[in-house]
Parts: sequence; structure tokens; C-alpha cells
Amino acid sequence: MTGLAGAPVPGLAPLWTHDPVTAGPYRLVGRLGAGGQGVVYLGEDDQGHQVAVKMINIDLSDLRARSQFMKEIAAARRVVPFCTAQVLFAEVDGERPYVVSEFIEGPTLYRHVREQGPVAGNALHRLAVGTATALAAIHRCDVVHCDLKPDNVVLGRDGPRVIDFGIARALGVTETVTSRVLGTTAYMAPERFRNESVGPPCDVFAWAATIAFAAGGRPPFGTDSLFAVMHRVLNEPPDLPALPPGLDELIRQCLAKDPAERPEAEEVLMRLLGQDVRDAGRLRRETVLQLGNETAGAPTPDQPLPLPRTAPDPPPDRPETAAPTRLGQTSQSPSTASAPAYQAEAGWGRRLRRESTDAWGISTAIFLGSVGAAAGYVASSAVDGAAATGAATFVVVYAVRLLVATALGDRS
Ligand SMILES: Nc1ncnc2c1ncn2[C@@H]1O[C@H](COP(=O)(O)OP(=O)(O)O)[C@@H](O)[C@H]1O
Ligand SMILES: [Mg+2]
Repeated sequence: MTGLAGAPVPGLAPLWTHDPVTAGPYRLVGRLGAGGQGVVYLGEDDQGHQVAVKMINIDLSDLRARSQFMKEIAAARRVVPFCTAQVLFAEVDGERPYVVSEFIEGPTLYRHVREQGPVAGNALHRLAVGTATALAAIHRCDVVHCDLKPDNVVLGRDGPRVIDFGIARALGVTETVTSRVLGTTAYMAPERFRNESVGPPCDVFAWAATIAFAAGGRPPFGTDSLFAVMHRVLNEPPDLPALPPGLDELIRQCLAKDPAERPEAEEVLMRLLGQDVRDAGRLRRETVLQLGNETAGAPTPDQPLPLPRTAPDPPPDRPETAAPTRLGQTSQSPSTASAPAYQAEAGWGRRLRRESTDAWGISTAIFLGSVGAAAGYVASSAVDGAAATGAATFVVVYAVRLLVATALGDRS
């Protein structure tokens, strides 16, 4: 039961006596968890590549149900892997149907909040951007998640990832709430209780409820009893924690009772990124997702995000929601704890800033600068000339590496 680097996978439980030991080409090495639709196992292929295998406990023997399932899974496979766990394939012909997807190592958002408390500041912003990016990518392929909630967001090393999309709809479990557990009900949009058709706006509602949970440690319509939660979802305004003003307004719009009043996922993402929604047509759609992906997973701990163009001061009577927490890799600087940061930096600028302080690059430039100085001294025997050669070598090496690394992207 080991992770990618041979380390144990946290939260992995041993297989039970009657658990299957293989699924297609994968050896099942432990249980990752269980939910309303079945059990999720960690699988490994011959090369040690890890996947999540969800064994479905819903009857798919009916031909129509099976073909609906395969259609939805085929659509889910087309979703670009921006902030999502990729669906790899599904098998429905054997005794037990299963879906194989990318394994994301890390705690779920639910577990993180339960164990470490609510999320605030930069970490909350990145979480909101990452999950909205995933949702925009999912909706673009005409897939509806139908089960977005804190258990279906995994906080991976490179940022939050949305898992399990399309499976609920593929299994046809969206029309009724009777079989669903209360944890899921708390994130369901009003139209689902009215048994109306389920579309992308129900995911936008669930997204907002998930972010409110992350920021306040409780869902906005409570969790006490199924009927109490249903009543509040249908009739009452959300009970939200203190949020930065821009985010508060956005979350409230996404929690509108009427699905037609909710913004689309792409608009949510644009607003989080501080982009004018009217630019959506002009910006290439992939660029928006790329920007969201980078903002969500940008390894820039402790660096304040830029303020919005018209940065409002936080109201003096608005207390901080909670102590800042780390979402896997990120942390929050006190200076940004109350700053609503809805404008993403361009990826190029951020990479340039990151590469300019890269320890490996600076050490290389110093080393080659010293070699240059030594060579200058051997050639001229003059200390001044040697120092100038060394300094020039340092500057050239540093600048060239910086430009190349920035242009190449993620790694120098
Ligand atoms: N792709 C994945 N990568 C990592 N962990 C996963 C993945 N899919 C599922 N899990 C784990 O398995 C657990 C159970 O998943 P699931 O059966 O979908 O139930 P639920 O979504 O109701 O929690 C999740 O909470 C998560 O911890
Ligand atoms: Mg799940």
C-alpha cells in the first residue's frame, strides 16, 4: 500500500475478505473509501501506475441503463484534465461494473475542513478558482456532475481536483433524493427536490454550497435532518459565513432558488479571475481554463495575490472567518487574509517571478560566474579584469536561464 514515491497512501484501508482483488488489468491494493454508489479501491498496473477503481453497486443489467451509462462515461472521458481527475475507462460487461479514473493523492475537502478547520484567504481563492475551472471544463463537454460536494474535491499536491463527475447522472440516480445520504442533500439545488430536469445550474449551486462549507465549516442550509434541509434549500436564504465581499455576492447569486438566475460555471470562473465577463468570447476558452488551472495550482506560497482593480477595504466590523489553513501546498500571508483577490496574474508574469528566485538557477549562475572569474584571472592575472569577467558571466547565465525557464513553462 504505497504511494507514488513508495510512501504509504494516507487513508488507504486494507481490502476486506470478500473484496475483489483485480479489476481488468489492475491489482486492487486497498480501499480508498465507500459512498452511496459503491466502494472505491486503489488499483495498480504492472508498472506500478496507480488509479482509483470505483466498483458500482447499482444494477446495470438493463440494456438501456447500460448504454446510458456508457454514453455518459464516454462524455466524461472527453473532459479536459484541468483541475479534474480524468476518467480513464469503464467496464460494464462483467459481474461488477466499475469506473477507472486518475488517482489523486490527498485528503478530500471534507476531511481537510473537519480535521484542520475552515479555509480562508489565498487558499480559499485557489480552491474556488480550481473547482470552478473543473466545473467549466466539465460543462463544456455537456457533462453534468450532479454530485459536487466536499467529498468529491480532493486536495492534491498541485491544487484541488474535482472527482466523480458524470457518474451520478450515468447511473440515473439524479431523479430521486430518497436513496441519497444527507451529506449529499445539503449540496442539492432546489430543482432537484422538485424533480425537475437536472442541468448545469445544479452544479453551480452545489459549487457555491461547497465553497461556503470550506469557508465556514458547515453547509449553508444545515445538515440536521433531510426535511429541515430540504425546506431551507427550497424556501430560505443561505446562512453564509463571513466571506470577502466579491465572493459573498457571487456565492449568493449561485445559490439562487431559480436555476435561470444562476451564472454559468464559465462566468463564475471569469469573475473569480477578475476578468470582464464580456471578454469571454474574445479570450480563447482554453486560455480561461489554463488561467484557472494555473491560479489554482500555482506554487506561490506566501505570495499575496494582486488586489482587484477597485479593491474595496474590508468592512471594519467583519471578523476574519477563521484561521488560515493550508490546502496541501498553499498557505496564506496575513497581509492577504482579508483582501478579496479576484484578479489572477498572467501565467508569464508569475513564472518570471518564480524563476527569478529559483535557487538552482542562482547557484548555477554563481558557480559559472566563479569559473568565469577564475578563467579571467588565469588569462590576464589582473584582479579587476577577473572580477569583471566573473560578474559578466554571472549576469549572462542568470538572464539566459531566467528567460529560457520562463518561456519553457513549468520547470527550469
Ligand atoms: N479519483 C480518486 N482519487 C483519490 N481518491 C478517491 C478518488 N475517487 C474516490 N476517492 C476516495 O474514495 C472515497 C469514496 O468515494 P465515493 O464512493 O465517490 O463516495 P463519496 O463521493 O460519497 O465520498 C472518496 O471520499 C475519496 O476519499
Ligand atoms: Mg465521490
